[in-house]
Amino acid sequence: MAVRERNNIYLPVKAEVVEKRHLSADVSLFTVRPDVPFDYRPGQFFMVSLWGAGEVPISVASLRKEGAKRSQQGGDLIEFCIRKAGKVTSLIHDVEKGGFLWIRGPYGRSFPLEYATGREMLVVGGGIGLAPLRPVIQWALRERNSIKKVSLLYGARTPDDLIFRDDLKRWAESGVNVVLTVDRATDGWDGNLGVVTTLWHKSEIDFREAVSFICGPEVMIRSAINDLFFFGMPEDRIITTLEAHMKCGVGKCGHCYAGRLYICTDGPVFSFREIKEHNLL
Ligand SMILES: Cc1cc2nc3c(=O)[nH]c(=O)nc-3n(C[C@H](O)[C@H](O)[C@H](O)COP(=O)(O)OP(=O)(O)OC[C@H]3O[C@@H](n4cnc5c(N)ncnc54)[C@H](O)[C@@H]3O)c2cc1C
Ligand code: FES
Repeated sequence: MAVRERNNIYLPVKAEVVEKRHLSADVSLFTVRPDVPFDYRPGQFFMVSLWGAGEVPISVASLRKEGAKRSQQGGDLIEFCIRKAGKVTSLIHDVEKGGFLWIRGPYGRSFPLEYATGREMLVVGGGIGLAPLRPVIQWALRERNSIKKVSLLYGARTPDDLIFRDDLKRWAESGVNVVLTVDRATDGWDGNLGVVTTLWHKSEIDFREAVSFICGPEVMIRSAINDLFFFGMPEDRIITTLEAHMKCGVGKCGHCYAGRLYICTDGPVFSFREIKEHNLL
């Protein structure tokens, strides 16, 4: 590749889809092998595109190397968990194993995982929001000796909409306190009913001592951060991701501008203190 091309921040890299796994009716996990290696951290995102269709921001859904699978050729594999939301994501869903996506990144600020060292960790996810939190839990399991406890509260619309069900089972077996809930039960569901923020009493977490990582619909985030702050969790340790409509992903186009910040470069990970300071929610 010519130097001029390499310096073009908008130029994506080809990534072969080496595996595609359906996680629910409208969510699939794409494992891709990019032509060049990337270094990335939980909470960061890539702009994922399809020629002629468009580009969308998608978070990394796996931990680099330790948590992620490696290809037979030895190169890194990246996992993207994508929900069919509209035009571009629906066309991406048409790509099967052996097809190609194009990616550029990683972009944005990652989760400050080091805040969890020596503390309890509370992970709160709603719907597709579990995707960026998955590498956080993978990291916590890798670092289990330095983290006191991990609790995951995860909610979805119906039992069929719960994603990463294999992981949820594995994480529970590995000592994570996994608490699930659904908005609407279907036959066979005898678990929790209601929104995820009704489950605080099941988290087994000392809120004043812990750090929380949150991702989900805006209404869930609002409610979660207010509750946790009320319970005594310091605002610097309430960490969430915020969504915005993005085009460039690199602080140039202004599409994601909010509260004098660019969500793409100043975020998408923010603490509650930053959210309040910049009026981001
Ligand atoms: C930093 C970041 C990380 C993300 N990570 C993931 C991920 O890991 N997996 C995943 O499935 N999705 C993720 N998303 C959301 C994803 O980018 C959007 O679903 C996608 O851009 C929709 O594009 P589309 O062309 O398919 O839908 P469109 O046709 O553009 O839109 C369909 C509907 O979704 C709404 N919408 C589109 N983009 C957004 C947005 N950013 N925020 C709120 N509403 C939106 C539109 O208003 C419309 O109602 C992320 C978004 C951001 C900003
Ligand atoms: S997406 Fe262009 S400035 Fe953030």
